[in-house]
Amino acid sequence: MNKYSSVIIGTGSYLPEYILSNEELSAKVDTNDEWITSRTGIKQRHIVAEGELTSDMASIAAKRAIEAANINPDEIDMIIVCTTSADRSFPSVAVTVQARLGIKNIPAFDVQAVCAGFVYGLTIADNFIKSGSAKNILVIGAESMSKLVDWQDRNTCVLFGDGAGAVILKASETHEGIIACQINAEGAHESILYTDGGIAVNQTTGFIKMAGREVFKHAVEKMGQTIIDLLAKSKYSKEDLNWAIPHQANSRIIDAIATRLEMPKEKMVVTVDKHANTSAATIGLALDHHVKAGKIKSNDLIMFTALGAGITWGGCLLRWL
Ligand code: ACO
Repeated sequence: MNKYSSVIIGTGSYLPEYILSNEELSAKVDTNDEWITSRTGIKQRHIVAEGELTSDMASIAAKRAIEAANINPDEIDMIIVCTTSADRSFPSVAVTVQARLGIKNIPAFDVQAVCAGFVYGLTIADNFIKSGSAKNILVIGAESMSKLVDWQDRNTCVLFGDGAGAVILKASETHEGIIACQINAEGAHESILYTDGGIAVNQTTGFIKMAGREVFKHAVEKMGQTIIDLLAKSKYSKEDLNWAIPHQANSRIIDAIATRLEMPKEKMVVTVDKHANTSAATIGLALDHHVKAGKIKSNDLIMFTALGAGITWGGCLLRWL
């Protein structure tokens, strides 16, 4: 039994001002609102402004989470940014955020697990807190996916958006907090979702390439299994869950998980219609929006689960403060 558990004491998020609707996108590429809505549930996506960077979004989401947590930035003893669209190859987005927050002498690093990044980041943070090595950790998911899509490729450009979501995790000796986490990867499937560029490959960032149906199958199976595994590791059943916040890639994936697990659709949080797929940012964004909407109540039991390129996947089961 660990002395400490990790409790989320504040959330924050940021979405760029510009909203690109399906209708507007249909004027730029050969697609239409009916196709996008029926295949994905997406109606719109937010897109960064010229010169607006992943670190800018991450910093704003972080400041909002810190304000909600009612702590001083200098109480934070670790910063983890989950991203696959960092400003530059190096340094990390996390150190830029650290500088913006004016925090000195703490570890700050990025986690690259693509759409599963946020659950990877939370799992890492949870272990630092449980071991007693950290008291307050800032975990941010932030992405500029609009910079990674080929806007001529209708197979992928309709799916993604930009944004950031952040949480503050605090060590607690009394509250249940994060109950269980699980992360996984299977590199043998890297060819179903990747970018065709990279520092070593061709010194470009490349564009997203995806075998959509393959990704869809893995997403339903592995996010669903993660929920089953995490409940099995705890003393809870799916009936005890108040909310599941799955990675927001596609509403059909979310529906299929609910059907497979026989979970009521009302318990599945959906923001993909408004935010599209913001990769590592989706869960933090959906959580903050649900918190700010007053939907998440004290003591709610919440499940996060995500799957991304790699493939990587995982989840976290937690009790809300
Ligand atoms: N608008 C109109 N037509 C399109 C578009 C578009 N934007 N994109 C593809 N099509 C066409 C195709 O060209 C194809 O036409 P054809 O039959 O004449 O060749 C037809 O629509 C069907 O294409 P499919 O790829 O077979 O369509 P599918 O029903 O599989 O839906 C989709 C595609 C939505 C990508 C689906 O496979 C999916 O949701 N996959 C999950 C992948 C995902 O969400 N990825 C996000 C990143 S990964 C992650 O976050 C987990």
